[in-house]
Amino acid sequence: MTEHDIEITVNGTDHEMTVDSRTLLVHALRDQLGYTGPNVGCESSMCGACTIHLDGEAVKSCTVLAVQADGSDVTTVGDFADRDSLHPIQESFSEEHGLQCGYCTPGMIMTTSELLERNPDPNEEEIREALEGNLCRCTGYQNIVKAVESAAEKMRTTATAEGDD
Ligand code: FES
Ligand code: FES
Repeated sequence: MTEHDIEITVNGTDHEMTVDSRTLLVHALRDQLGYTGPNVGCESSMCGACTIHLDGEAVKSCTVLAVQADGSDVTTVGDFADRDSLHPIQESFSEEHGLQCGYCTPGMIMTTSELLERNPDPNEEEIREALEGNLCRCTGYQNIVKAVESAAEKMRTTATAEGDD
């Protein structure tokens, strides 16, 4: 077993930590640093419950070794919780009933936020394609798609209003 010292920034906070060479990023985040937003579902890249942003890109944190994240900037769904008001994506998932048990929701939110960052006005096909790596056993997906459409509209409206200022 080999240990490595790594540095990682999570939700804007810098961390220095020692990880085993086999430690998955999701376990380093949850078990060593206490960021419990990314959920552990399959641990095999199937379900997307562990999705985070790694240097701005949505990735499944069970597919990345913690040592590979050395020097990286990580964002978890917890970053959305540290705000004064709900983010439009959170609002829309709530309003459109885009969740039931919520186990998949952290991953859905992180994938959605990356999608809307690169494509502010996705059509239904693009939304379904973006979310195809995120499994949900409860909702049947229709309300999740509606939530993403609603969030996109809210975010476009906000961007337009800010542009008018
Ligand atoms: S726990 Fe990572 S994809 Fe399922
Ligand atoms: S809301 Fe239960 S798995 Fe998606």
